[in-house]
Amino acid sequence: MIIDWPALRAAAVAAAARAYAPYSGLRVGAAGQVRDGQVVTGCNVENASYGLTLCAECGLVSALHASGAGALQASGAGALQALGASGAKSPLVAVAVVAGDGEPLLPCGRCRQLLLEAGGGDLLVDTADGPVELRVLLPAAFSGADLAQRRETQRRETQRRETQRREPRP
Ligand code: THU
Ligand code: ZN
Repeated sequence: MIIDWPALRAAAVAAAARAYAPYSGLRVGAAGQVRDGQVVTGCNVENASYGLTLCAECGLVSALHASGAGALQASGAGALQALGASGAKSPLVAVAVVAGDGEPLLPCGRCRQLLLEAGGGDLLVDTADGPVELRVLLPAAFSGADLAQRRETQRRETQRRETQRREPRP
């Protein structure tokens, strides 16, 4: 898929101009290219209660889902595994995040994790040195695949079946 990086960066710059950042003075805009061609954006929104601040990427991910573009291509555990394993089914393919000065800004750790869920490890993230895959910015990440494998309800059920197989009730 061809990514129009100049258009994506321009959309991020436009979103940054709409940011609400009176406390930090750092406006941030994010723009994402969806697999189906749509572009979704977000900007940071701060609050007098500082800890409630929403990063620009949070707004982007919310817009992704609110627009209907965020639907997974698979369903259930299969979708979680697809996201964790390769990101091949993830709706988001490229993201540009900029500060108010128009220069790229690297997503914070929390936003890298949010973006992973929406775009997988293959997601291209713009940096000052050009686009890099999210797996490089967030190595050894926790993902939906870990959840699918490790959730206790599933493990208990597997153990129960295994016990029943070994020691069938009379
Ligand atoms: N910010 C973002 O919008 N995205 C990030 O990933 C890093 C930080 C915002 C949050 C806050 O409004 C301001 O930058 C200063 O931390
Ligand atoms: Zn963030």
